[in-house]
Amino acid sequence: MAILVCGGAGYIGSHTVKELIGKYEVVILDNLTTGFPYLVNENAAFVEGDLGDEAVLDRVFTEYNIDAVFHFAANSLVGESVQEPIKYYSNNVSATLVLLEKMVEHGVKNFIFSSTAATYGIPDTDFITEQTSNDPINPYGRSKLMVEQMLADIARATDLRYVILRYFNAAGAHESGEIGESHNPETHLIPIVLQHLLGQREKIAVFGTDYDTPDGTCVRDYIHVTDLASAHILAYEGLVSRKVSNEVFNLGNGAGYSVSEIIRVCERVSGKTATVEYVERRPGDPATLVASSDKINKALGWRPQFNLEEIISSAWRWHSK
Ligand code: UFG
Repeated sequence: MAILVCGGAGYIGSHTVKELIGKYEVVILDNLTTGFPYLVNENAAFVEGDLGDEAVLDRVFTEYNIDAVFHFAANSLVGESVQEPIKYYSNNVSATLVLLEKMVEHGVKNFIFSSTAATYGIPDTDFITEQTSNDPINPYGRSKLMVEQMLADIARATDLRYVILRYFNAAGAHESGEIGESHNPETHLIPIVLQHLLGQREKIAVFGTDYDTPDGTCVRDYIHVTDLASAHILAYEGLVSRKVSNEVFNLGNGAGYSVSEIIRVCERVSGKTATVEYVERRPGDPATLVASSDKINKALGWRPQFNLEEIISSAWRWHSK
């Protein structure tokens, strides 16, 4: 039995494949538009193709004995989603619907879906549980919530069973140093700060200093990518053992750090000093997003293994290479 990892050549997908290899047979489906060939694990089968391509999916589901699909293949930039909503609804919603249709057709029953804290929009609490209401404020968050809603309906009508994982801020790199966070263009805070400290960027722009937070900059919950990977495997094994079925779980560390605090930790880890420019708010950024991950801890025993210092140290080792 194999696991199909859609988006396995991307940041979080490739780290999850690395954790799966040795335990499970893995097939990666990726069109390499935002993923990278060097992130394709050599111990996995690789199919280059689009998620929404029915012929490719028919071939994969016929050729391999797929027991579960882990779905990481999506566009995930909030700002870009505001500028290009059709791209987000097409790639994140329409293509996923084709994938789900093909799973049902081929009798593949287990689905692990990468969702996001962006489904919560501007939450009415600083500590977000899965009960916190969903009210996304951008097309990216809406595209993920739409798939969550589709999944609930499809699971009611078919044998498909799912776990939805709502990530907070993924960061860090694999302990092997072989893979890490790569995006082009890079928009995420930690890699941008580290690139600056390595002399690859002139300065760091901090987006907004007048948020309702202790130091006025946005607060986020950073979670190590390997902790995300382990949650996927526990979720899959939980589906198979019937411990869980059709659930949604937050994935975060439960601790919030401001943009200024992140810069300070990056300075400490690297031993270098940053040049910071304070600029206007970036549209679509909520002030504070911090997760309660109690639900997945109770249901599956998941607990993050890496704190912020370790997350940034692992990212620094990767970026320094
Ligand atoms: N930031 C800066 N300067 C930069 C880059 C980011 O000040 O150059 C700030 C942002 O304004 C934000 C914080 O750093 O306040 C974190 O920004 P990121 O872009 O690293 O991450 P986001 O919180 O915007 O988004 C991430 C994922 C989304 C997901 C969201 C959910 O990229 O896909 O977490 O919490 F929806």
